[in-house]
Amino acid sequence: MTLALRTARESTLVPLAPLPQWPLGWYVVARSSEVRPGAVREVALAGQSLVLFRTRTGQLGALDAFCPHMGAHLRHATVQGDALVCPLHRFRFGVDGSVVASSRCERARAHVVEERFGLVFVHLGDVVRASVPTPEAADELVWATGAPVHVDASWHAMAVNGFDMPHLAAVHQRRLVEPAEVVIEDRERLVLRYTSRVIGSGLSDRLMKWLARDRIRVTQHCYGTIVVVQTDLGFTRTAAVLGLLPCGDGVRAHGAFGIRRGLFSGLRVRLTRWLFTAFLRRDFGVVSGMLLRTDVEDEGVRALVTFLRSLPRADS
Ligand code: FES
Ligand SMILES: [Fe+2]
Repeated sequence: MTLALRTARESTLVPLAPLPQWPLGWYVVARSSEVRPGAVREVALAGQSLVLFRTRTGQLGALDAFCPHMGAHLRHATVQGDALVCPLHRFRFGVDGSVVASSRCERARAHVVEERFGLVFVHLGDVVRASVPTPEAADELVWATGAPVHVDASWHAMAVNGFDMPHLAAVHQRRLVEPAEVVIEDRERLVLRYTSRVIGSGLSDRLMKWLARDRIRVTQHCYGTIVVVQTDLGFTRTAAVLGLLPCGDGVRAHGAFGIRRGLFSGLRVRLTRWLFTAFLRRDFGVVSGMLLRTDVEDEGVRALVTFLRSLPRADS
């Protein structure tokens, strides 16, 4: 395996910082379908407790979980119309944290929240420097989300896995047909490009081999805890957006999977999800329980670890 590393701004990286547990930026905290109108859902982000809620008209809010009045936990709150109603004294909060029809309570702290691809993204950090990571021509794709998976490993282990080229053959039954290339395009993402062919004989392997005419061109963008994968199968393109949410001792992995809109979109997007999931399930099995070592002689792994260390972080 050969891997070419091109660095556009290598000098901007900070090589010796520890890996960040909580880089600033976007996190996938739920699927949109888990927060239906009227729903209230508790999520944890960087040691903080938040509540997501959706108003009856479909707006989504993310607020600090503890009511600014006397601290009741808002997971017990209910949604009435366009407001979240605290159960203890019934102050009402809008999705922006403002107090509805009262001046006797401070506003609640609202977090920046967005929905894309059927996933809910919350921004860690008050200053939003970049939009939600998005594949090319994402609006031309139809999307389906997968059930989140808990993996007993750090999110770093999951992210590094995507840049560990030698494991492609061992775990995924894929062989590179030309050298992989890692490109540092800017401070926000690390890009990996490779073309592989299928060498496995499982059902998903055989289907992928047939669909892709045995040439799968992959472009992978790692933004930290969000990874965007684009595949070119010749006759069509697919994409996946993966979110790695640190969770207890492990990571909660959310995924959305897209394919170009067209005939039989519903069927094709479910097939896309199944193929991506079959690929990822092989990683979940072997990464589970991993205690990541980053001092290996592998250029892809080294490049990703250096990139992760350079990310601005909430933890210090
Ligand atoms: S604690 Fe929420 S309204 Fe009083
Ligand atoms: Fe993998």
